[in-house]
Amino acid sequence: MSRTVYVNGSYVAEQDAKISIFDRGFLFGDAIYEVTAVLNGRLVDNPGHLARLERSCGELGLVLPIRQDQLVAIQHKLIDINQLQEGSVYIQLSRGTDGDRDFHFPQPSVQATLVVFTQARKLVDNSQARNGIRVVTLDDIRWQRRDIKVVALLAACLAKQQAQSLGADDAFLVAEDGTITEGSSCNAFIIDKQGHIITRPLGRDLLHGITRRALLELADQQGIVLEERPFTREEAYQAAEAFITSATSFVWPVTHIDGHRLGDGAPGPMTRRLQQLYHAVAAGAAEPPPS
Ligand code: PDD
Repeated sequence: MSRTVYVNGSYVAEQDAKISIFDRGFLFGDAIYEVTAVLNGRLVDNPGHLARLERSCGELGLVLPIRQDQLVAIQHKLIDINQLQEGSVYIQLSRGTDGDRDFHFPQPSVQATLVVFTQARKLVDNSQARNGIRVVTLDDIRWQRRDIKVVALLAACLAKQQAQSLGADDAFLVAEDGTITEGSSCNAFIIDKQGHIITRPLGRDLLHGITRRALLELADQQGIVLEERPFTREEAYQAAEAFITSATSFVWPVTHIDGHRLGDGAPGPMTRRLQQLYHAVAAGAAEPPPS
């Protein structure tokens, strides 16, 4: 069944959606995006995602062509039209085009291109959530502003492909100093033998995950000790447990890193508890459509 998508003010069938071949998102990757999870037909942590979208806009001098409440209305309308129960809403904003390929920014009168679409996907009950994933570590070859959610995701695609060709599900990316920055499209956490959660502190070298923030709040409420500090690949091999977070995975246990088995090779008990808590919070706190 064809989805309805939103493109620059119009709701159209996906096969009828059109963007200029000169669009700067297409030619230069001059575009940002957000992905908000949808659970039970409701948006999860949407204000956090929209705040990050605004921040990405500010960092790159991009201007949203509509107000934030109008954007929220578009998200809800697409969920409604496409009868989405579980999955995500993707928002992309590019700097548009003034009709040719030119590195310089277009005239300020040129409006950004805004695209919004839904994707159906099982977020709570899927094999990765149940059984965990295997990751490999790969060099982090991305640019230096990973805190901005830009669509230029070639390095992430290469990492995922390479992980797959090595028989793994995903990659943890390693900075030049040997510490893990994050996953290819997720934040990375380890739990040490004392039961402390360790994850890299926020900075320009990783995305400030919205799910990461929610998970850390939850863990804190549970009285779990949090250490926001860089950790090395070797430390990760020795971890009792590990997991990842993102809007498209929520919480997935990591059972193996570069073939090193963590614990008994099954999802760890603390990870499982946090995953269940997060699922409950996400389902309970999800934002209903405006009345
Ligand atoms: N990716 N780090 C990177 C590099 C990411 O691409 C993502 C999300 C995250 C997690 O952020 P959040 O919890 O806000 O989703 C961390 C999205 C889901 C994607 O590209 O599809």
